[in-house]
Amino acid sequence: MTEVFISRKTFDDALNHFDEAGLSYFHNAADDPLSPAQLAEQLRETGATALMSVLTDRVDAALLDAAPRLRIVANVAVGYNNVDVPAATERGIVVTNTPDVLTETTADLAFALILAAARRLSEADPFMRAGKYKRWQLFQPHLGLDVYGKTLGIVGMGRIGAAVARRGALGFGMRILYYGRHAAEKAEQAWGAQRVELHTLLRQSDFVSLHVPLSDETRHLIAARELAMMKRTAILVNTSRGPVVKEDDLVTALREGTIAGAGLDVYEDEPQMEPGLADMYRHVVLTPHIGSATTETRLRMSMTAAQNASAVLLGRRAPNPVNPEVMDEVGEEG
Ligand code: NAP
Ligand code: GLV
Repeated sequence: MTEVFISRKTFDDALNHFDEAGLSYFHNAADDPLSPAQLAEQLRETGATALMSVLTDRVDAALLDAAPRLRIVANVAVGYNNVDVPAATERGIVVTNTPDVLTETTADLAFALILAAARRLSEADPFMRAGKYKRWQLFQPHLGLDVYGKTLGIVGMGRIGAAVARRGALGFGMRILYYGRHAAEKAEQAWGAQRVELHTLLRQSDFVSLHVPLSDETRHLIAARELAMMKRTAILVNTSRGPVVKEDDLVTALREGTIAGAGLDVYEDEPQMEPGLADMYRHVVLTPHIGSATTETRLRMSMTAAQNASAVLLGRRAPNPVNPEVMDEVGEEG
């Protein structure tokens, strides 16, 4: 029997962590994503008690039923919309995520998308490489939009949203608006952020940056109606989850000039993207879900997940539970 099932290639440090904890593991070092059927079959065969999953693994009730010995699902991500948390809770399985360790890295990427879309870097870079820069012009082919001093609208002022707001306020003199279910007092006091209704944020912001988790409430939070409220000069940045934006409506809005541009790291049906998006360059920047993708941060995420898994298997409280009530019920040592 194997104790920990690691669904995708991970860092040696994470494997060493399990060795040192005396926990055996199965490691999918091939790094090929496992289909739901393969994952279920291999989990059943190994009899694993912990699953270290990534966001492409669908951890639903059927999978949990195929792995009756599971005690913890340690997702290597802060978002856990790939896990059916109520189904895990019902089965007494702890679910954990990797908050904080990726906040600044993801905020860096969100801000990179703001800057790159505003200054049309996806056009300027290939232009230069193709030897098309022949002479300097006052009316350069890639005239962009200012970022400094503009209004930044943060949808979801949580950890990453606040880190983006801080960059905007302190680094770029931006006015910060935000939309959320609760007041973010620190952001209000530190950076003068103002909490407003979503439609006000959309109407007044030059850059709208999305940082909500994917849930029934946030799916298609931004669709044609919301895009129509935005300024024609505005740029939408999404580093949250693809389905928060109705991607076909976004492509239509970009094509029709309803908004000026978009910086996207996430897509509705990854790894696919909406037809037409790949042909858009003007103020459009596209990245392949790399928000947390620095070596340092991916290592921190992997270690956090490994520590969550080993804690539960060794009878301790997991540091980052998303359903802490499970640990309270089974009475793990605090
Ligand atoms: P977080 O600290 O939990 O922040 C999420 C924020 O969204 C909270 O302020 C929450 O506030 C707000 N929110 C939740 N539901 C809402 C709703 N229905 N309407 C309005 N606001 C709502 O999470 P985080 O660490 O910042 O991460 C945010 C998300 O970023 C993750 O869930 C993940 O999907 C995504 N992410 C993507 C990447 C990438 O590689 N692109 C990397 C890391 C994270 P209230 O609960 O007070 O409303
Ligand atoms: C990445 O998308 C994460 O949620 O950590």
